[in-house]
Amino acid sequence: MSENIESVLHEERVFQPPQAFAAEARLNGESLSALHRQAAEDYEGFWAERAREEISWQTPFSTILDESDAPHYRWFTDGQINVSYNCLDRHLAERGDKTAIVFEGEPGDVRKYTYRELHAEVCQFANALKAQGIRKGDRVVIYMPMIAEAVIAMQACARIGATHSVVFGGFSAEALRDRVNDAGARMIITADGGHRGAKIVPLKAAVDEAIEHGTPSVEKVIVFERTRHGVPMVESRDVRWQDAIAGQPQACEPEWVDAEHPLFLLYTSGSTGKPKGIQHSSAGYLLQAILTNKWVFDLHDRDVFWCTADVGWITGHTYVAYGPLALGATQVIYEGAPTVPDGGRFWKLAAEHAVTVFYTAPTAIRALMKLGDAFPQGHDLSRLRLLGTVGEPINPEAWMWYHRVIGGERCPIVDTWWQTETGGHMIAPIPGAVATKPGSCTLALPGILADVVDEQGNTITEADRGGYLVIRKPWPSMLRTVWGDDERYRKTYWGMFDGRFYLAGDSARRDADGYFWIMGRIDDVLNVSGHRLGTMEIESALVAHEAVAEAAVVGRPHDVKGEAIVAYVILRGERPTGTDADAMTKTLRDWVAKEIGPIAKPDDIRFTEGLPKTRSGKIMRRLLRSIAKGEVITSDISTLENEAVIAQLQGKA
Ligand code: WT7
Repeated sequence: MSENIESVLHEERVFQPPQAFAAEARLNGESLSALHRQAAEDYEGFWAERAREEISWQTPFSTILDESDAPHYRWFTDGQINVSYNCLDRHLAERGDKTAIVFEGEPGDVRKYTYRELHAEVCQFANALKAQGIRKGDRVVIYMPMIAEAVIAMQACARIGATHSVVFGGFSAEALRDRVNDAGARMIITADGGHRGAKIVPLKAAVDEAIEHGTPSVEKVIVFERTRHGVPMVESRDVRWQDAIAGQPQACEPEWVDAEHPLFLLYTSGSTGKPKGIQHSSAGYLLQAILTNKWVFDLHDRDVFWCTADVGWITGHTYVAYGPLALGATQVIYEGAPTVPDGGRFWKLAAEHAVTVFYTAPTAIRALMKLGDAFPQGHDLSRLRLLGTVGEPINPEAWMWYHRVIGGERCPIVDTWWQTETGGHMIAPIPGAVATKPGSCTLALPGILADVVDEQGNTITEADRGGYLVIRKPWPSMLRTVWGDDERYRKTYWGMFDGRFYLAGDSARRDADGYFWIMGRIDDVLNVSGHRLGTMEIESALVAHEAVAEAAVVGRPHDVKGEAIVAYVILRGERPTGTDADAMTKTLRDWVAKEIGPIAKPDDIRFTEGLPKTRSGKIMRRLLRSIAKGEVITSDISTLENEAVIAQLQGKA
């Protein structure tokens, strides 16, 4: 990532909000300043007013922020809502016939759902869940392809107060089992398979394998038939989606839950080998989903929104399953890969469905940019009016291509910084009010007190000096805890600065205009194609293989993926060379794919006889990172027994 940071440092281009855009935008400079002013003068009053304006409450709240169990902050505690009611029922009178979802499958099948139809399907499936014994507070794992039914399943859980935990369909059976067990899920909702990259992703087979390897809490599996490639069903445990909904009414009274009721868990990687179940609330989470879709995406009733993220990630929760629906917007959902049948698929989709606001990841932009301008130029992208990015810093070259070739130089680009833990955007430009700079996520949103501090927690006022990115005050959509591990929550996010502020885990700097520039993670978390992966997780997977004695994993800059995975491996037997090394590399890559998922496969495996360690025995990751990058090594590596090992680490011997 250092090359990116290097070029970012010298970035001086500034793009003012286009006048035509600003004139119609929900927020302009003036209204934005007013929000900032209110948040500064009366923080809790600011949030209370937003919550009253944006959410339909069944029981209004009187408490705004409850700090009695800090840092487990609670918001709007005595209020009651239902998230699904806020996303569906409240639109029926005015927008019942408006399209809520335009779904397109990878094979090209298209299906549209109006708000009335979506409401009916969610209600019917919610009744099916109840009929299968699912109750408020139960955990339900959703392991599905990116199809409308994944959103229906999430909304149905929300409707009956069941807490969902979506597991990305690219994760393996082993990874699925770990998450199911940590959450103690009673049910898994899956599909026979999904279409991705012109292949079938065998989801049901993975569920069977996960359960075979031990998931004591799982009682039922619901299987949606998507690919119809014929999957075996286990009697009395597996139920076809169609059979589950048969005869169920298309109306279902929402279960009113407390504002703090856990809407969902979502597992993400951290510094240890074990992924953490990030627990989100109902009302506070929903509030940021609504506000940011309004403020940052400037969604109007006439817009067609398309966020390309999978529901397996937080982006697919806030900007697919919940936010756009809570606003009554029309959105596109696409099942498959951006390159099927060719590199023009995204642009063809955007043109055919008249997309106006488009949100994707820098890695996708870089990959599509590499395929040349002919693909986007072959489609009518003139309806686009706003573009967004998320997941990692975007290099200015990709930003400029996005601006020029996709946005026709007329669309503002919103670079949105946030995390699974923050629930929604935190630092991002308001497109009608804030000028953008390629590579910067610009300024914090109203009510979000982002700061860059030094080791002692003092604000860094000097321009361009890097430090820790923190949030100085609790905000409504923040995570509530790590599921089943309060201690880890307190330590990871509030430990470093004695509970004074939230530690994001990123380093950042601010320029002379106060703009934020994200520099990268400060923990051992990699960002591979916008996917967050723990180095320890990959190391644990490697050492779980019988041939491996020890492993160290680091990231290396990669021009499309952002970071590539480099693994240094010590085998139990002799160090392999030549074709033996090639064979072992393949074995271990496949092994990691089986343990975690294909996204975690190391790009580069180097077999070595030793690893550089500190006197206390810790692996010197910083050194391994420089070696992986091919930098000249000048620092002390005296802990290594012999010089030959250095050549091995460098992949030269
Ligand atoms: C990490 C969070 C937020 C949804 C997708 C990823 C990095 C995220 C940006 C951005 C630079 C970014 C950070 C962050 N990140 N957005 N606009 N610019 N870096 O969610 O998997 O929880 O990962 O992604 O390092 O901490 P996530």
